Amino acid sequence: MKTLEWENNKLKLIDQRKLPDELEYVYCSNYQEVIAAIKNMTVRGAPAIGVSAAFGMALADIGGVDLNKAADEIKAARPTAKNLFWAVDRVLDSENPLHESLKIYDEDMKINRAIGKYGREIIDDGDTILTHCNAGALACVDYGTALGVIRAANDEGKNINVICDETRPRGQGARLSVWEMQQENIPVKLICDVASGYLMSQGMIDKVVIGADRVAKGGIVNKIGSFMVALAAKRFDIPFYVAAPYSTFDMDININDTVIEERDPDEVIHYGSCRICPKGTEVINPAFDIVPNDLITGIITEKGIIDPL
Ligand code: MRU
Repeated sequence: MKTLEWENNKLKLIDQRKLPDELEYVYCSNYQEVIAAIKNMTVRGAPAIGVSAAFGMALADIGGVDLNKAADEIKAARPTAKNLFWAVDRVLDSENPLHESLKIYDEDMKINRAIGKYGREIIDDGDTILTHCNAGALACVDYGTALGVIRAANDEGKNINVICDETRPRGQGARLSVWEMQQENIPVKLICDVASGYLMSQGMIDKVVIGADRVAKGGIVNKIGSFMVALAAKRFDIPFYVAAPYSTFDMDININDTVIEERDPDEVIHYGSCRICPKGTEVINPAFDIVPNDLITGIITEKGIIDPL
């Protein structure tokens, strides 16, 4: 199963807003529909956003749209994941937008398997691994980065238990990562975001592996809550790994200069369709946070495991 596919000159996306209850697809036949799908999180996760953005450029080209204009609009869809900007620029600089998008698509699948191959070395038989958000197949074309490491270790016969943070407010851990692990028959348990420190204090977590939306000088950016998980892991000497392809790397900036997306207050005010706070409550809803290098054990890339930049 692929998170996204190019089919009959359309971009076919799993509608991730409907998972885990319904497996439905959305078809984008022009670049504006791709922008909408990225904004409303039909497709999400840094690599999947990047590949979708590349196909958005291909659709703009097919539709005879000025590619510089399309590039600017697509880049404005979400601000944080480096992959979006990387993919749009790569297609813009190419001779043939569709050909380049298909190349980016193919590369994503190979890169994730390479990350898995290197990453599985840090996993021991019997490990319980905590992950935050969804850095799985659903965040990429398939396989995943952080969950790809877990898949690869599982495939070589290691017994692994996975703990997923629920990942408020959008529930990517609960809805998507738990679902993916269940599909693979990898033992998985769900915890509230606030529970990970306690589990670590009780010796119930051996390693943390998460993805990233941007890797830069001084640290990484990932889903809100990653920083607190990293702090707790440091307190209990638990290895904290980040799995990310080089398309997520931004060598030019300091990590503190990353634009952190602020999302709709409604995501926090409501739990599903139920309002959980008084009417009129003011909200702060950053979608990502920064994990500084001193809390990171290593970054698992498609070329090997490296020290933080
Ligand atoms: O807001 P999202 O769901 O796009 O955020 C996704 C994450 O934070 C992932 O952990 C990150 O993109 C890595 S995906 C391989």
